[in-house]
Amino acid sequence: MAQNTLTIALSKGRILKETLPLLAAADIHPLDDPDSSRKLILDTNQPHIKLLAVRATDAPTYVNYGTADLGVAGKDVLMEIEGENLYELVDLGIARCRLMVAGQPGFTPAGHRLRVATKYVRSAQRYFAEKGEQVELIKLYGSMELAPLVGLSDVIVDLVDTGNTLKANGLAPMEHIADISSRLIVNQHAYKLKHDMIRELVQHIQEAVNNG
Ligand code: ATP
Ligand code: PRP
Ligand code: MG
Repeated sequence: MAQNTLTIALSKGRILKETLPLLAAADIHPLDDPDSSRKLILDTNQPHIKLLAVRATDAPTYVNYGTADLGVAGKDVLMEIEGENLYELVDLGIARCRLMVAGQPGFTPAGHRLRVATKYVRSAQRYFAEKGEQVELIKLYGSMELAPLVGLSDVIVDLVDTGNTLKANGLAPMEHIADISSRLIVNQHAYKLKHDMIRELVQHIQEAVNNG
């Protein structure tokens, strides 16, 4: 983490398309198309700024360890990790969705602890604990909507945007846990060390977010 360089961890997948215009507002343009390039370290028009193409779930890890100075990550992912070296700098307002409990309409659990399938074990645990409800958590890595259909779980905790995935599988949203959007995050140490450089970048990005 050289003092005059900036490394930014960018989530591949659905966040990427919405992140690039925000970087462009700070005059950061990748030299290769991050969508099609197989490169994982991308040079930009600014020789001292590099982009890392990472899995959405991994972005906070790179920033927490200082391998990247900055990053973009979903609030859903941030709620799952212990990021003691992280600050959230800007709510980018992109990749908006809701973290929800969902299940089969009319379902009422009877006589046993509610079985909850989710990728978001910590958030689910916290949510049900706050309601004073003891639940059994089943960790999944994707396609959560399948679990109640085949009897693996009673309900799921997953992201809902249009509701199309729930609907296509005969499920309905039941309880709202949190509103989700992507955040610009920074490594605390990098923020002190490279304060001016980071503040300038953040200012441009914040302006682009405000002008929506
Ligand atoms: P991976 O397991 O590869 O990390 P992922 O499912 O976490 O995959 P994406 O689907 O690209 O990766 O989602 C990235 C982020 O976008 C999520 O962390 C969340 O904040 C947001 N997101 C996910 N699904 C939706 C959706 N359907 N609508 C809007 N935002 C979403
Ligand atoms: C996400 C999420 C839901 C779906 C919700 O999955 O896990 O399944 O989007 O969006 P909707 O309400 O608009 O249908 P994604 O498409 O990212 O698939 P994944 O399992 O590969 O993460
Ligand atoms: Mg996804």
